[in-house]
Amino acid sequence: MEIIIKPTEADVASLAADIFVQYLNRESVTLGLATGSTPLALYRELIRRHREEGLSFAHARAFLLDEYVGLAPQHPQSYYRTIRDEFTAHIDIDDAEVKSPDGLAAHPGEAAIAYDQAIAAAGGIDIQLLGIGTDGHIGFNEPGSSLVSRTRLKTLHPQTIRDNARFFESAADVPIHVLTQGLGTITEAGRLVLLATGEGKAAAIAAMVEGPVTAFCPASVLQLHPHATVVIDEAAASKLQFAEYYHYAYDHKPAWQRP
Ligand code: PGA
Repeated sequence: MEIIIKPTEADVASLAADIFVQYLNRESVTLGLATGSTPLALYRELIRRHREEGLSFAHARAFLLDEYVGLAPQHPQSYYRTIRDEFTAHIDIDDAEVKSPDGLAAHPGEAAIAYDQAIAAAGGIDIQLLGIGTDGHIGFNEPGSSLVSRTRLKTLHPQTIRDNARFFESAADVPIHVLTQGLGTITEAGRLVLLATGEGKAAAIAAMVEGPVTAFCPASVLQLHPHATVVIDEAAASKLQFAEYYHYAYDHKPAWQRP
């Protein structure tokens, strides 16, 4: 795992944008996108580069990590809507190429299998963006999720419902069920880029980076991935025992290895 600690949230977004640009420079690219608060600064930076520097997404397609079960696509808090409002409606990606699990499917289990098949048919995800929950989840893979799980129906942890209640009128309005890419699905992406900012994520980051690989910290599965990059600010890094070494290793990276 490559750990990059930056002073501020803006620095995290800027470095993450640099990494994404490398992939967008390819002839075609399949992006894995995430919702939540953390990626917003990155999305704003990519939109800025699109508007001011000609960065194009016309040759990109995208798959979202997850979706609430029971919310219509046009519901303001569905991830179908959220990713468009916050990112993809502001760039030149083909809207039909922005895919998310079908939260209204009559048979969510079948929709989950179809989603994994759609990712495979696209040739897999080249670069997957991730946030991390305070309980160590990635996507909506809550603690206890199998490290080899596929896209499937999950029940949210009450803590996740409390964390996400800020986006709804009340916690009672947060859907209890979701469709999420599994940990096995996520780790098939060619590159994983996990972002975290703020002290509230420090314990989850320490468990992910320096704790054991365990289903009880789903993000720890990144330790098993050959190309996982964790970009965090000083606050999110504040509980890492080896922070000095991560700084040192990054500062001494050969130029060709730099993101
Ligand atoms: P956040 O959510 O970016 O809104 O903190 C991250 C997550 O729950 O995966």
